[in-house]
Amino acid sequence: MIYLTRRERFCAAHRMFREEWSDEDNHRIFGKCSNPNWHGHNYTLWVTVKGEPSEEYGFVMNINILKQIILDNIINKIDHKNINLEVDFMKGKIATTESLAMAIWNELVPFVEKTGASLHCIKIEETENNSIEYYG
Ligand code: NI
Repeated sequence: MIYLTRRERFCAAHRMFREEWSDEDNHRIFGKCSNPNWHGHNYTLWVTVKGEPSEEYGFVMNINILKQIILDNIINKIDHKNINLEVDFMKGKIATTESLAMAIWNELVPFVEKTGASLHCIKIEETENNSIEYYG
């Protein structure tokens, strides 16, 4: 089994909060990321797919196709946007990195599977010190 990873980066604004809570309660639970006036992060996204290299091409998946799938379905929708307000696949979700990884998985999985490869992992780094991984 071969694992193939494509990295993309995006900048986006967000606020982690529950609407029904006061600003004080949101700050207590979500900290600085609950700032009512938004703030941004420089995110790094790693998308890992897996499979056996094909006999014909010698690769698991055409990396240019993987890149294009990520750009069309994720990066072009989220880069320089407000995650809470402008990103269709994050509507109604708390804008945590966890929610983001699960939503990105759900967006990408049909396109990756169409190529014959399998989606293995979505990794997102929100800051140098904080990252999460989702395996479906
Ligand atoms: Ni934040």
